[in-house]
Amino acid sequence: MNKFPEGFLWGGATAANQCEGAWNVDGKGMSVADCSTYKANLDPKDYKAQHGITNEDIRRAMESDDIAKYGKRHGVDFYHRYKEDLDLFAEMGFKVLRVSIQWTRIFPKGIEQAPNEKGLLFYEDLFREMKKRKIEPLVTLHHYEMPLYLSIEYEGWYQRPVVDMFLKFCKVVFERYKGLVNYWLTFNEIDSAFRHPFTTTGIVTENYPAEKQEEVIYQALHHQFVASALATKYLHQIMPKAQMGCMMTRTLNYPENCHPDNCMLALKTNRENYFFGDVQVFGEYPQYAKNEWRRKNINIKMEPGDEEIIKCYPVDFVSFSYYMSMVASIDADKKEKVNGNLATGVKNPYLDITEWGWQIDPKGLQYSLIEMCDRYHKPLFIVENGLGYNDKVEEDGSILDDYRIEYFRDHIQAIADAIEEGVDVMGYTPWGCIDMVSMSTCQMSKRYGFIYVDLDDMGNGTYTRSKKKSADWYKKVIESNGKDLF
Ligand code: BG6
Repeated sequence: MNKFPEGFLWGGATAANQCEGAWNVDGKGMSVADCSTYKANLDPKDYKAQHGITNEDIRRAMESDDIAKYGKRHGVDFYHRYKEDLDLFAEMGFKVLRVSIQWTRIFPKGIEQAPNEKGLLFYEDLFREMKKRKIEPLVTLHHYEMPLYLSIEYEGWYQRPVVDMFLKFCKVVFERYKGLVNYWLTFNEIDSAFRHPFTTTGIVTENYPAEKQEEVIYQALHHQFVASALATKYLHQIMPKAQMGCMMTRTLNYPENCHPDNCMLALKTNRENYFFGDVQVFGEYPQYAKNEWRRKNINIKMEPGDEEIIKCYPVDFVSFSYYMSMVASIDADKKEKVNGNLATGVKNPYLDITEWGWQIDPKGLQYSLIEMCDRYHKPLFIVENGLGYNDKVEEDGSILDDYRIEYFRDHIQAIADAIEEGVDVMGYTPWGCIDMVSMSTCQMSKRYGFIYVDLDDMGNGTYTRSKKKSADWYKKVIESNGKDLF
């Protein structure tokens, strides 16, 4: 008997840059996402090849109109088909839909004084159409889609003026969507600044000497922390009842065994992941981070009042993505490795892996929920979770994704078990509730959705939507408020 609270927010999650398409329509400017290329036949463990970007790559992207190679430019055309998609989500009973606002639709370069009305209108209509269908918007302000202009001219989030430009954008959307949007998130997977700096902070690492890169990224992060705090402040001023969440990738690390050195390594690796939540929830840089900066001679420039700002405006809730767990081992070099959305890691012999090498671990979600509840004492929201799979369409057009049902069943059971332990969970929005272009590889064939989109890796297809078997299953889960998992 699952015990999901009344009003639990069941739904799904998307990101504008991966689903909207229409990359150069209605005044939209170019974003960092429009530079990501399709990655075919890469060694799936070559993390750098997936995410690394050079100035030459950017120059080529700016000169190209190609949308097959740069798949996020076409997405799944949500920009023109959102009403049809919302109908499907409403049919499944969604209470909430996570979307993001592309900064470049509102301020194409980031530096303009006046916002682009067409961009504002698009999201206004999107939110109104959600409300009509009783779907609550959960809106990410910054999901891997900052203006490319700011990346080039301001070194992304490394330079301080970007904070003000982002806040200008935040104030405009808070004012405009007052009364329409109650749940907001600041920076998607803020911790990925280190894993893929360009997507997260607009920083091109080759512009800095290797020994300086960590400092540069921490500096950009400091600017994002200040921006997150001030965005929270303005949100509360403009919409006193609205809530702001931080968003992190939960990268749970188990020690490889009970060797004290492995346990210590796991503890420290997990703490590195918690750093991002610690700053945004507790409102201060933890001592362990300050010690690390001192040890590594990392100097962060702070303006007078920055630390007070971070202290005064912590987030209201903590949201996170959860896909997999990892293993911390002092002998990592000698061990078999698996891939992942996080980094290559040591294989856990007790877990299955997906086609893309991500370790499937529902218990790790329960573990994470309990641990984060104990640490933060804030409501938690699982805003991404899911299984990337190369789904096959049967001759009769059906898609029998029992593997996805099994994946979600086990993860939802894990959430129920955590709630049973007293964890306050606000909602659950599985990733890519409709198939969309993959963040890391720009593939369409890496599908997460309950809804199939007829489109291949090269952007060929009809864009027709059809429900997979998991769509009907999830509908029953929502209808029964998590009781009916079978
Ligand atoms: C998360 C991102 O890291 O993982 C999403 O927030 C992304 O944007 C998701 O799509 C799945 O990753 P991928 O690379 O399989 O699309």
